[in-house]
Amino acid sequence: MGRFAEKYGPWAVVTGASAGIGAEFALRIAERGVNVVLVARRRNRLEELASAIEDMYRVEARVAPVDLTARDFIEVLQPVLSDIEVGLLVNCAGFGTTGPFLDMDPGVQEAMLNLNCRATALLTHEIAQGMQERGRGGVVIVSSVSGFCAARGMAHYNATKAYGLIFAEGLAPELAAYGVDVQALCPGGTYTEFQAVAGLDPHNFGPLRRLVFTSPTRVVATSLESLGGRVTVVPGWLNRFLVFTMRLVPRPVARWMFGLLMERFSANR
Ligand SMILES: NC(=O)c1ccc[n+]([C@@H]2O[C@H](COP(=O)([O-])OP(=O)(O)OC[C@H]3O[C@@H](n4cnc5c(N)ncnc54)[C@H](OP(=O)(O)O)[C@@H]3O)[C@@H](O)[C@H]2O)c1
Repeated sequence: MGRFAEKYGPWAVVTGASAGIGAEFALRIAERGVNVVLVARRRNRLEELASAIEDMYRVEARVAPVDLTARDFIEVLQPVLSDIEVGLLVNCAGFGTTGPFLDMDPGVQEAMLNLNCRATALLTHEIAQGMQERGRGGVVIVSSVSGFCAARGMAHYNATKAYGLIFAEGLAPELAAYGVDVQALCPGGTYTEFQAVAGLDPHNFGPLRRLVFTSPTRVVATSLESLGGRVTVVPGWLNRFLVFTMRLVPRPVARWMFGLLMERFSANR
């Protein structure tokens, strides 16, 4: 058994495992010798990934096709988790929307709140209890560079990502006393299905997109290398520079700058 598996225990739960950053987390955690529970709605995607993981690595992969916006999602997940020791939880499932808040479907906004915030809080509460009792474990909450600053056109999404960031930063010292590592992972632009869902277009950055965008591989490598070290992890020097600048300048200037950046990013501009 490798050091990672020894530190975090036999099982990990990864939400949002059917695509993008979550699928990459599942692969890289399995590669380190930890069994994985894959959570998302698209069963076929989860089954394909589970079978690829079991073929490539000597671990078990369970699928849990669950809608995390459902009120009773914890009860639906409980039977899948009842007989295993979960030592690592990656709260990755999430989506974003762009446009003026009042033009948006309130039902979609409620789902975003439920997924990006409520599901993260409830799942962490459910799973981290066992970690606290055992005195080991890890919780990753996937926030975003967007969590550091407001932006017009992404008012509500950025607020949900600020929730994850602040939640993780407060939880980290609470759980550190029990040997449980908590990380707020704050990626910037990452090539996944996120952009198509949110109505963003990386091509709007022209050739600069090579600088601005990165791959899920790099994001997840940075996260797993940093787990147990820094609490707030911003992958990529340009993103760290952006976050640093946003903290340095007055808040109205920061949100004007970030709003401008997001406007450029919007597919409908
Ligand atoms: N990509 C970026 O540029 C970027 C930047 C900063 C932060 N992030 C954050 O990174 C996280 C992962 O996003 P991604 O970029 O990997 O996007 P993605 O490729 O669109 O993946 C999103 C994942 O969330 C799952 N999901 C969506 N709605 C769900 C629901 N109701 N119940 C359960 N699972 C659900 C999706 O699976 P199903 O559709 O199968 O349910 C999918 O597995 C998000 O929290 C996002 O806010 C992304």
